Amino acid sequence: MESRKQSEREFHNLLRDKKLESSVHFESLTANKKYYSITRKSLKFVERWLSQKCLGKKVLDYCCGNGGRSLSIANLGAAQVVGIDISDASIENAKINASNEGINKKLQYFVMDAENMKFDSNTFDIVYEAGVLHHLNLERAYFEIARVLKPDGHCICIEALGHNKIVHFYRKMTPHLRTGWELEHILKKKHISMANNYFSKVEIIGLFHLATLAAVPFRNLQFIFNPLLKFMEFLDSLILRLPLIKWQAWQVVFVLSKPSKDSNKVEQNSVKAII
Ligand SMILES: C[S@@+](CC[C@H](N)C(=O)[O-])C[C@H]1O[C@@H](n2cnc3c(N)ncnc32)[C@H](O)[C@@H]1O
Repeated sequence: MESRKQSEREFHNLLRDKKLESSVHFESLTANKKYYSITRKSLKFVERWLSQKCLGKKVLDYCCGNGGRSLSIANLGAAQVVGIDISDASIENAKINASNEGINKKLQYFVMDAENMKFDSNTFDIVYEAGVLHHLNLERAYFEIARVLKPDGHCICIEALGHNKIVHFYRKMTPHLRTGWELEHILKKKHISMANNYFSKVEIIGLFHLATLAAVPFRNLQFIFNPLLKFMEFLDSLILRLPLIKWQAWQVVFVLSKPSKDSNKVEQNSVKAII
């Protein structure tokens, strides 16, 4: 395995090691978790999209981590959900979580490299990915997603953006919270545009979280946090429409459709689809 992928596996195995969860080291490794206290709007937005698209469908949770989203997609009525990740600790956790929820019949998890998936072409109706593309060789990831999607399938992506210099400065100052590759590959507009080489339709459907970031320091003071977050969400809904400001957002949601099925590009992988 390439050393970059080995580092990804080791880093995420450590992050998802249940035995480390109460240690000081774990706390310092997950210090950026606090920023996710303000993400309810983007989470709800993606959840709504999935609830409209996933009913009765075959869904791939691309680099699923512990599989939290796979569970919710299964609960939204998907026929089958398959999660893959290069981290074996994550896949182990995902299997346990599915079994605890009692919905493991609909769910399958595999340790697999997202850049060389073992699924047949045209397998999935929907691909979901969150915070993953900047961990991968982007062209390879777009190629693979386009390959495994059915011609009328869609891929929804929720990703961090690299345009905001303050947010990016924070990332540079906290290298222990991420892999080296990740830091250098946070998506910008041009990287989303590259998807046009693999999909005929690339739509940005949401930009989230700029003013809302100011609520993070108050997350433990609910009486301030709740009204402040509501106000900042309102502010974001106004300022993230402005052309000069909107790309300063922390997160972007985009949808890839009409995958290119160029037969010269599409490789047949060896292992049969499992669903
Ligand atoms: C930031 S985490 C996101 C996990 C999950 N999507 C979530 O939202 O919780 C990125 C994930 O990508 C996985 N990953 C990195 N490189 C990979 C590769 N080449 N193939 C499969 N998974 C990979 C990591 O193990 C990690 O679980």
